[in-house]
Amino acid sequence: MYFYNMKEIKQFIGNNRDRILNELFDLLKIKSVSADSSFKQDVKDAAIFLKDNFKNIGCENIEIIETAGHPIVYADKIINKSAPTILVYGHYDVQPADPIELWDNPPFDPIIKKTDIHPEGAIYARGACDDKGQMFMHLKAFEYMKKFDKLKCNIKFMIEGEEEVGSVNLEKFINENKEKLSNDVILISDTGMIANDIPSITTGLRGLSYVEVEVTGPNRDLHSGLYGGAVANPINILSKMISSLHDENNKITIPGFYDKVLEMTESERKEVSKIPFSKEDYESEIDINSTYGEKGYVTNERNSYRPTLDVNGIWGGYIGEGAKTVIASKAYAKISMRLVPNQKSENITKLFSDHFNKIAPNGVKVKVTPHHGGEAYVTQSDSIEYQAAEKAYLKAFGSKPIAQRSGGSIPIVPLFEKVLGSKSILMGFGLDSDAIHSPNEKFGLFNFFKGIETIPLFYKYYYDLWISNKNE
Ligand code: BES
Ligand code: MN
Ligand code: MN
Repeated sequence: MYFYNMKEIKQFIGNNRDRILNELFDLLKIKSVSADSSFKQDVKDAAIFLKDNFKNIGCENIEIIETAGHPIVYADKIINKSAPTILVYGHYDVQPADPIELWDNPPFDPIIKKTDIHPEGAIYARGACDDKGQMFMHLKAFEYMKKFDKLKCNIKFMIEGEEEVGSVNLEKFINENKEKLSNDVILISDTGMIANDIPSITTGLRGLSYVEVEVTGPNRDLHSGLYGGAVANPINILSKMISSLHDENNKITIPGFYDKVLEMTESERKEVSKIPFSKEDYESEIDINSTYGEKGYVTNERNSYRPTLDVNGIWGGYIGEGAKTVIASKAYAKISMRLVPNQKSENITKLFSDHFNKIAPNGVKVKVTPHHGGEAYVTQSDSIEYQAAEKAYLKAFGSKPIAQRSGGSIPIVPLFEKVLGSKSILMGFGLDSDAIHSPNEKFGLFNFFKGIETIPLFYKYYYDLWISNKNE
């Protein structure tokens, strides 16, 4: 055991607050949008920023690793070969900022504003929460531990630039670098928590199957008077096909879709029901008059334990000013399916594709193109990393965190388990209302600094538990 002083870290934060925020602002100003190739140099600039920061905080073996896509940044500090090793994973790439006109302030010009939920202020910028702000907490927590001689664990950092586009090249990298990345546990802050006074640890992520569909009717756009009524209109047909994918109970109609889904146990449902949740707040925060979803399940079950199918985008035909009387030749949609443990992304994509082709009526042709996917992830709440995280939150927040499965996806997490044999502990500090992927994304100052406080505690408790586990 080693001495640990809460006051000391609070002091470190207090004394370095402005500098730390300035550094984060500099990172947030870099337009590292991985999906758009016109930002390729910006993505690289973010990698260089991290490399420099790793150097300043005292990391070693700092590398920018080029890939077929965007680079990976690696850095470590190995203090003792017989100590436990923690691999910190995060991403420095961000979602596109569009639609830019819906931002109250420019997305890459960070600004602090107070809100009801964030009375101490929140940083508004694309990537503030997902994931630059959360990832950067780990660098600053390390800086503290290094400066004040608190390091007891070996630390490896792997920060990637392609999470928002499916981590395709990272998968290859981890397959080829198992030794370099070997670890006892992976620590990630890229999820959320329930509220600033209700900390939680994420114990599950959903998988993902993502497809693009194309429905083709006539070989050219037709006059909708001359041909209307006599030929299949691809947009009408696509709409019909899409609406047939859910039944009157909002269950997905693709044959076999639920075959592998594990029904929730009574005790799981009981656990979910204990999670503090206000339907009114949930509805009012996103300005809807009612929640909506699969019959027989409540909101917190629908958004984490249950699989879904959603259209993410749909287009075709004339959308310009005024009216144009036309039957379009083609209609398109992008469709995502969130998957739960035991469903396999590849299998679900095939079930979708077979079904979509089958339900296409005569008069149209259908093409289904799969995009990236990923598997779901669940982890137990009795591991030493969970216990360490639980103790860390209890100490930093003054209340015991709640275990909660999330609806989002981080496809590399199940791959870490498959390739490296390591479990991940998901210590997220964001809130649902932080609007990740949306206009006006933000991250509370409270959350950012509380994260920096909580992380060193995790290392401390993990080390203690790891040692006593080893000596057992
Ligand atoms: N950090 C998110 C995932 C997330 C957010 C999980 C909040 C749990 C709570 C991540 O950056 C993300 O956006 N993932 C994508 C998947 C990816 C393949 C594009 C997602 O979930 O849509
Ligand atoms: Mn993320
Ligand atoms: Mn994201």
